[in-house]
Amino acid sequence: MEKREQLYEGKAKKVYATDQPERYIVEYKDDATAFNGLKKGTIQNKGVINNQVTNHLMTYLAGKGIPTHLLRELSERETLVKKVSIVPLEVIVRNIAAGSLAKRLGLAEGEKLRSVVLEYCYKDDALGDPLVNEYHIKALGLATEADLATIAAYALRINEYLSEYLRDLSIELIDFKLEFGKVADGSIVLADEISPDTCRFWDSVTGEKLDKDRFRQDLGNVEGAYQEIMRRLLGQS
Ligand code: TMP
Repeated sequence: MEKREQLYEGKAKKVYATDQPERYIVEYKDDATAFNGLKKGTIQNKGVINNQVTNHLMTYLAGKGIPTHLLRELSERETLVKKVSIVPLEVIVRNIAAGSLAKRLGLAEGEKLRSVVLEYCYKDDALGDPLVNEYHIKALGLATEADLATIAAYALRINEYLSEYLRDLSIELIDFKLEFGKVADGSIVLADEISPDTCRFWDSVTGEKLDKDRFRQDLGNVEGAYQEIMRRLLGQS
C-alpha cells in the first residue's frame, strides 16, 4: 500500500490518498483542540492511543454486525480505511447528562437520563456545528430519510454494544460522538474515530474522568487518562 498525497488535514487527523482509489490512509496527530478550535494544545501520544483505541472498538463493533470504514492498522498512528463521503453530521448519543446537554437544559452533570438521547449537529466549523433535528437534516439535504434511519439505528446499537463492553472494564460510557460515511456502493458505514477525544468515559468506581474533558477543563493528568483507557482496552500503555 503506497501513501500518496495529503487530501485533508483536520484538527486531530490527516487523510492521505493511496495507490488505490477506494482506499485512504488516516494518520492521527497529537494535536488537541476544544471549543471549536479556540483552545489548542498537544496531548503526548494521543495519536497513537486514539488510532489503536478506535481500531480496537471498531473491530469489536464489526464483530457485532456494524459496518465500518476500517480495513487495517498500518502503524502506530496510521490506518487504512475505505474511502467514504462523510455524512455532514455529528451523531451524539447520551446516557448521562454532561457537557453541552447539561448546560443547555440546566441538568446536573452526572444526572442519569430516563432514556437515551440522540442528537445531531451539522458539521460546519464556521457555524460552530449547530444542533439540528430530522427536519433540518431533510430540509437541508444533509442525509436522506432512509440514510438517517440507518444511522440512528446503528448509533443506538453501538451505544448498547459499547456500554456493555466498557462496563466490564469499569468504564461508564456517558456520551459519545459518531460520524458515518457512504462507501462506493451507497451503503452507510461507521467512520471517523471512537476515542477519548470523542467519548466521555468515567471510571465506574471513582467517577474520575478518563477523556478529553481533562484537557477541555484543565483537570490535569490528560496523558495519564488516555493511557489508562488504552491499558484497560488493549492491556498496554
Ligand atoms: P458535548 O456535550 O460537548 O456536546 O459533547 C458530546 C459528546 O461529543 C462528547 O462525548 C464529546 C463529543 N464531541 C466530539 O467528539 N467533538 C466535538 O466537537 C464535540 C463538541 C463533542
